[in-house]
Amino acid sequence: MKVTESKVFYRNFNKRLSTIVRGKGIYLYDKDGRKYIDACSGSVSANLGHGNEEIAETMGKQAATLAYTHMHSFTNEQAEQLARRVVEYSGQDYEAVYFVSGGSEATDTAVKLARQYYLERDGRSCKHKVISRWMSFHGNTIGAMSVSGKRGLRQKYDPYLFDSPHIEAPYCYRCPYDRSYPQCGLRCAQELENCILREGPENVSAFMAEPIGGTSLSALRPPDDYYRAVREICDRYDVLLIFDEVMTGFGRTGRHFAMEYFDVVPDILTFAKGVSSCYFPLGGVMADGRVVEAVKKGSGKFTHGYTYSGNPLACAVGNKAVEIIQRERLAENAAKQGAYIKGRLAEMAAELPVIGDIRGEGLLIGVEFVADPATKQPFPAKAGFNAKLEQAGMKLGLALYPGGYSINETSGDHRIISPPINITAAECQLLMDLFQQALAQVCHELL
Ligand SMILES: Cc1ncc(COP(=O)(O)O)c(C=O)c1O
Repeated sequence: MKVTESKVFYRNFNKRLSTIVRGKGIYLYDKDGRKYIDACSGSVSANLGHGNEEIAETMGKQAATLAYTHMHSFTNEQAEQLARRVVEYSGQDYEAVYFVSGGSEATDTAVKLARQYYLERDGRSCKHKVISRWMSFHGNTIGAMSVSGKRGLRQKYDPYLFDSPHIEAPYCYRCPYDRSYPQCGLRCAQELENCILREGPENVSAFMAEPIGGTSLSALRPPDDYYRAVREICDRYDVLLIFDEVMTGFGRTGRHFAMEYFDVVPDILTFAKGVSSCYFPLGGVMADGRVVEAVKKGSGKFTHGYTYSGNPLACAVGNKAVEIIQRERLAENAAKQGAYIKGRLAEMAAELPVIGDIRGEGLLIGVEFVADPATKQPFPAKAGFNAKLEQAGMKLGLALYPGGYSINETSGDHRIISPPINITAAECQLLMDLFQQALAQVCHELL
């Protein structure tokens, strides 16, 4: 379809988009009969792939039985069941789950909950600032954007964003402090303490981070002991720890939640995407006992809410999606297929000298591309490396998620590989064959 014929307000009017009419498993089909491997699960969200009939059947039945009620006057069986299910899936004893419709709402909810916790606990009205990291992404609402750290996305809306201090990311490949792990002594974690002291601990309510980064820095995975240091600092200054597991949750990284890699449990955990595998908009916030008890024993009311919070149709889809992820042991599958992808990328690096860094866990794998792996010199912006790779992939029938700008507003090429977590070994091999072909074409053009 020519973009000019459409009435849709696209996010990018400069791009021509194929019209997708059907999906099955890892494949998407357009109206001209072309087939694409969804190598990014949409926005790293369709964890169960496309055309899942069990979920379709559940949706139909639930819509016919009870599609909607509002939580101001009623609860419903699907919400009750899903809250128990996600807590059990987390393996932690979270006290309660607040349902929302997606990741940005989950971020806003967590920010508000952290503030209300201190108000209810001992009337600390100053404790409201949420510290987060540069190069993070927590969503596109004004609140979620305020705590996000992608400068390119924030710039235009800067006048609306509230004061939220940011610290450097644990980006070991290009350490912001020019040090190397472990001699660095986790300087980047130390910066959290410096920031809390600068802002005044009495003003800081929480530190929020994606335990393994998403697309801003392509699956940035901090050293194992980074979050233990962060947890200790939070505890020392009476600051809540919030993990944004919107992208990393529900098996994506090869564990149920990415927090398991670090042996650290946040006080508040946000989720979305994989919980319903995007068959229906759904997200949520899990909160631990002390946070929930403060609200219960205080006013008893969380001053918050959305029209779609806890609606039975979304929750029925969530129940079915999480049931399938558990039953089919898809976190284990993500770990296994992810190891294969990393192995292939390491082999490719020897042949195609543009792979600078391979990172991430499970099926959230990031690759950073450089013009010279020895010096980590990036490609110049005018080389258009990332766009060329995306186009080469599309021509071969491989849909990749946009990525880039890890260094500044114009440079730093990287991509995420994140197919549905029920991908088979044979499908993974095909995906990587196509990725290698696409990359070889770009190398041929640029080197
Ligand atoms: C880590 C993280 N948090 C929050 C969001 C925002 O989620 P949504 O687009 O559902 O609002 C995203 C979206 O990609 C994300 O990756």
